Amino acid sequence: MDVNIPRLKISHILWICLIGALVIRALYQRWKYRRIYSLLASLPGPVPLPFVGASYIFAGTTRNNICSKFKTFAKNYPGVAGLWEREEPHVVTSSREVFNAVLSSGNVEKTYHYAYFKMATRSMFSAFGAEWRFLRNIVNPSFRTNVLMLFDDSFYHHGEVFVHQLKQHVGGDGFDIFIPVHLCTIDMICDNMIGTRIRAQENPSIRLSTAMLQAAEMIHERVYSLLLWPDFVYSLTGKRKLIDKLLYECQCVPREIVEQRIKERETAGLKRQHSEGPQIYIDSLLDKLDTGDLTKDHIISEVFEMFVAGSITTAITNAWAFKLLALYPDVQERAYQEIKENCVDGEVRLSDLSKLIYTEMIIKETLRHFGAPLTSRYITEDVQVDDKMTIPAGMNVFMCLHELHHDPKYWQRPGEFYPEHFSPANEKSRPKGAFIPFMGGPRVCPGNKYAMRSMKFLIASTLLRYKLSTDEKPPKDLREMDYRLVFMLFPSSGFRVKIQQR
Ligand code: HEM
Repeated sequence: MDVNIPRLKISHILWICLIGALVIRALYQRWKYRRIYSLLASLPGPVPLPFVGASYIFAGTTRNNICSKFKTFAKNYPGVAGLWEREEPHVVTSSREVFNAVLSSGNVEKTYHYAYFKMATRSMFSAFGAEWRFLRNIVNPSFRTNVLMLFDDSFYHHGEVFVHQLKQHVGGDGFDIFIPVHLCTIDMICDNMIGTRIRAQENPSIRLSTAMLQAAEMIHERVYSLLLWPDFVYSLTGKRKLIDKLLYECQCVPREIVEQRIKERETAGLKRQHSEGPQIYIDSLLDKLDTGDLTKDHIISEVFEMFVAGSITTAITNAWAFKLLALYPDVQERAYQEIKENCVDGEVRLSDLSKLIYTEMIIKETLRHFGAPLTSRYITEDVQVDDKMTIPAGMNVFMCLHELHHDPKYWQRPGEFYPEHFSPANEKSRPKGAFIPFMGGPRVCPGNKYAMRSMKFLIASTLLRYKLSTDEKPPKDLREMDYRLVFMLFPSSGFRVKIQQR
């Protein structure tokens, strides 16, 4: 009897092999990452699809809605959630306990998302492993107290230029204070970290400020859209070309400065084999050029990073503080009285900054609302959070600082501008790790003391001379405002204020 066996075509065989290979791969993945699968299965989170995971929830992310997308995620999955971004496993959390466990562990690696910062600069912020350790060891001594003291003259000088230049706006119908503040923080950073007075305020380098802001915003959009377009697709959108153009404009300044500084050192015979005594950041870097540990291009990248990270963050915080003081005149009046009582001969002195307790409370409350909303770490060693939870190596942790900083467990009035959150009594009673605008652990922001000192000085010097106001009304809840993401939260409506002479 003839048996009729259907004949398989080559295409059928190929399909069977392909499906078989995918099934074997999926089973192997499940087995290899079984601890990760088991943790993620126990956590709430959006349903993952094959290959794309739950990335679909971030479809359509643009710079205008990036913050609201993350806000919605945090609202839908509060506390600790799981997220598959394609085949990459993530814990997304605002839990103080998880933050503390991760930051106090040996995990110092950042997640793969930071690779996109390398579009701008191949330097410490996005560096991994041994390279990061090497660079961090150069940076840390440049922020010690004995070095920070070298910056006093520069703070006085640039602060005075800033306050003087605001005069042109007195009695006007309002202006956006961001660019003037940013030019001032650029001047301070260049002077203090890179040893060069570029006078960005006197020869207003508005293009430098806007190019830096726009490039930083585009990179954040790409980092956090979580739809990882391959480079060629990104280039097809024309965005890559635009970013390169903006970066070129901003990098001219650090490039020129580094080249000039190298020449100066050579002429003055300052070439040294080892650092001696306190020295500013650029000289610590150039010592490594002399020893052959760093190249000139690498040093330019490092300098560029400091230039951006140090100037944008402090400018945004200062500008927010001015906007908030304009929105809340009672808070402004109390700060003004404190500053007036503690200044001598109508001047704010850096040595008196520690007496400005209320002013510092205002800055901290500003950072609570508008500081960096999100950061992440790649877990290289298991993190034991408590008896019930271990985050296995191989996972990414998205840390939602904005949610932590608004958690009603730690903040009496989460959505309000309420500097009392930082009264000495409230600070004392708050548990460790509930407020970390500069993050923590080995990768804590190295510029934190520099930032607090420069911001306190500039805000106090400004309030002493001018009264700020605005036509805007304070929102019921500051979380309802529209933001864009540029390292920190940047208001879509800008930083418009009016000023009057005191
Ligand atoms: C209000 C001011 C500032 C805020 C809120 C701030 C916040 C932060 C945060 C949250 C991080 C950690 C980022 C992460 O883990 O992904 C960080 C890192 C960093 N910050 Fe700041 N920062 C400020 C000012 C500065 C200043 C003034 C400088 C330099 C002069 C600076 C230089 C850096 C650098 C180089 C890193 C990377 C550190 C590393 O990866 O080891 N920051 N900053």
